[in-house]
Amino acid sequence: MNVQPIGIFDSGVGGTSIWQELHLRLPNESTIYLADSKHAPYGTKSKNEIIDLSIKNTQLLIQKGCKIIVVACNTATTNAIKTLRNSFDIPFIGIEPAIKPAALNTQTKAIGILATKGTLSSELFHQTTDLYSNGIQVIEQEGEGIVPLIESGQLDSDEMKALLNTYMQPMIDANIDYLVLGCTHYPYLIPQLLDILPKHIKIIDSGAAVAKQTQMILEQHKLLNTGLQKPELKFYSNASPEVMASLLEGKYQVEKLDF
Ligand code: DGL
Repeated sequence: MNVQPIGIFDSGVGGTSIWQELHLRLPNESTIYLADSKHAPYGTKSKNEIIDLSIKNTQLLIQKGCKIIVVACNTATTNAIKTLRNSFDIPFIGIEPAIKPAALNTQTKAIGILATKGTLSSELFHQTTDLYSNGIQVIEQEGEGIVPLIESGQLDSDEMKALLNTYMQPMIDANIDYLVLGCTHYPYLIPQLLDILPKHIKIIDSGAAVAKQTQMILEQHKLLNTGLQKPELKFYSNASPEVMASLLEGKYQVEKLDF
């Protein structure tokens, strides 16, 4: 069981930001990454659609022999992880916007969250925000249009810059000192965001925490790969293998797979 891969899925290429953290922390583990780019963005879909797509991705990863599943998508986690945990007998790790560290550390008592509509409207997101936002102003911003631009390889476009400027201005005006990236596609935008934001604003995401949590759960379930053979790193996309290969800086092969 231990040599079996970790399964990771996202609505597209964004979850590779989580995969990078996982691979850094757990270099001996084999991984299978599914980018469901054909159905991106998930962020504008209904809860039921997000659940159905998450079940489909999970079934494929289990069929490919995965021992644990990392839902590398805030939208899928906040809308579907409960159903996934109730439906499959395998451990799941999810990702949620890192509101807690931002809320605990803010000096200006104002924090910004950039996430999809699906995440911001979810029950799980509201529960977490209610728990930590006492006395703090939380500026929520939907990142409408960002994911489709990343999925079509327009990470560095003028259109992206214009969107980010529009989305950041109300947060800058509210004097936030923390910006929480609540979508796994967004860490790829950190260079552009640093150009826009005043220097004192810190950007945080949940990638490293997810990798740490995955390690802990693997240890708990005695699922860590203790074998010596080289791990296999597989990447599948059902729409844009070239965009994903370029985000991975051409270091890994991305296969096209219909799912
Ligand atoms: N990467 C995703 C997330 O973390 C999904 C974005 C989308 O497909 O809208 O929310």
